[in-house]
Amino acid sequence: MSADTPEHRKELLKQIKDEVVELKNSPLYDFRIENNSYPVIGEGDHFAKIMFVGEAPGKNEAKTGKPFCGAAGKILDELLQSVGIERKDIYITNIVKDRPPQNRDPLPEEIKIYGPFLDRQIEIIKPQIIAGLGRFSSVYVMEKFGLLLDIEPISQMHGKTYKTEASYGKVKILPLYHPAAAIYNQHLKDTLKKDFSALKDLK
Ligand code: URA
Repeated sequence: MSADTPEHRKELLKQIKDEVVELKNSPLYDFRIENNSYPVIGEGDHFAKIMFVGEAPGKNEAKTGKPFCGAAGKILDELLQSVGIERKDIYITNIVKDRPPQNRDPLPEEIKIYGPFLDRQIEIIKPQIIAGLGRFSSVYVMEKFGLLLDIEPISQMHGKTYKTEASYGKVKILPLYHPAAAIYNQHLKDTLKKDFSALKDLK
């Protein structure tokens, strides 16, 4: 087994990127190629304590290959700033790495095909906190870590922390509303700000 060095983590993450780029059996592959766009693998500190998991890239993200760089990203930045966390200190990714047409919700078969890449990213980065942005990512992560019986609608789970075990040690799951839902909803943004304050203590 190779030593867990920054170089090794970088190499393992690069392997994921290379595989996703060539993921021709994904139902979203043709749409990516037709639109001359990129998959969005993830970005940030490879040793981050906090990992944010969104749903799938939107138009801006697929154009640039960067997660949360559009309107939802602006909200995310505001939320991070409110708790004094910088993007460079976290890792941000999505469950589904390619943009679904019309930014529709990810389909179960898409989550199934891309989920294992997220699983590998978690194993490589070994975050202590995984914040799910929206119900799809929150439910995926809860299921993955054996919290099936704790799954409720996101309106019930948001802002609560769920303690569980990963192969590499303890991990806390924090389900959150998706920042895109707060673009035109100040009440939801306030709720998100309150929920983000949990990260301050977990930092
Ligand atoms: N919404 C997401 O879930 N992920 C992104 O990267 C951008 C918007």
